[in-house]
Order: sequence, then structure tokens, then C-alpha cells
Amino acid sequence: MKRSSAQLLLLGTLIVAESITMARPIDSTRIKGAALFHDYCLRCHGESGTGSVKISTNSVWVQDPSALVRIIAFGARGPSNNGMGYHRAMPPAPYNDEQIALVAMYAMQQIGKRDVTITADGVRQIRRQHLDSVRRKLDRKR
Ligand code: HEC
Repeated sequence: MKRSSAQLLLLGTLIVAESITMARPIDSTRIKGAALFHDYCLRCHGESGTGSVKISTNSVWVQDPSALVRIIAFGARGPSNNGMGYHRAMPPAPYNDEQIALVAMYAMQQIGKRDVTITADGVRQIRRQHLDSVRRKLDRKR
């Protein structure tokens, strides 16, 4: 007995339809975050934080997303773990609040292995709080 080609076609279509519905939905937040990470962070930190400047995951930023936002928005200076024995500085990222939120979520997922939600509003607040605290410190020195 020969199966009709229409029957086979139907079977094939069902299998394809099934695998499409089972695929993970495209996550545009992650794609945008990845693009921002690749454009700027990659040159120093590599794909997974293992580039020329290693990112430690045993560090406060993994537990505290606002610390990560501050690092991205205002830069960082640290005892370089690049093995070259000198300190290097990370410049503030040339990104707006929305872009910082996206790239921070991506970095947290990709390197910190944590899913967190960070909004542009949240970034704005963290920036303001940080600037206020710097201002207070400067005032005390006057
Ligand atoms: C010009 C190079 C450069 C770029 C670009 C850069 N960083 Fe950094 N980053 C550094 C340096 C240098 C440090 C300090 C590391 C050290 O010496 O311990 C650092 C530190 C960090 C830390 C803290 C690491 C720790 O061990 O606690 C995080 C998180 C981080 N960067 C994330 C990012 C993200 C996300 C981006 C992109 C938005 C980015 N960096 C872009 C150079 C860079």
C-alpha cells in the first residue's frame, strides 16, 4: 500500500508546526542587551567575562544589581585581575538609562547566571542616589 503524498505532507507539516511552538519565544530584551554588550563591553571583558579584564562572579555586583548598574553608569577602578600587576579603570558606559538596564540584565544573565529585572526608571533612581551621595561627601569636605 502506498501512502498518499498528501498524507506525508500533512505529517511533515504537523511535525514542523510542533517544533515551532516548542521553540523558546524570541526574547528581544536579551537580544538588545547582547548587542549593547557586544558593542561596548566585549572588547575588555570578552564573551563571558573571561576576556583581558576578568569579571569576578564572587563579587558584590552579582548579589546586588544596583552595584552592577553603578559600575556600568559610573565606571570602576579595581585591583586588576589581568595578572599584569597594575590597576586599570573601566570608563562609564556611553549608554542612556534604558540601554544600561538592558546591558545590565544581559551581563547578569550571561556572567552572573542570574535573571533579574532592571528598568530604565530603576537605573535613573540609582544614578540619582549615587550622585546625591557623592555630593554629600563633597559637601562634608568643604
Ligand atoms: C575599557 C575596558 C572596559 C570596558 C569597555 C568595560 N569594562 Fe567593565 N571593567 C573594566 C575594568 C578595568 C574593571 C576593573 C576590574 C579590576 O581591575 O578588578 C571592570 C570591572 C567590571 C565589573 C566588576 C568586576 C568585579 O570583579 O567585581 C563588572 C561587573 C563590569 N566591569 C562589567 C562591565 C560591563 C557590563 C561593561 C559594558 C557595559 C563593561 N564592564 C565595559 C574594564 C572595562
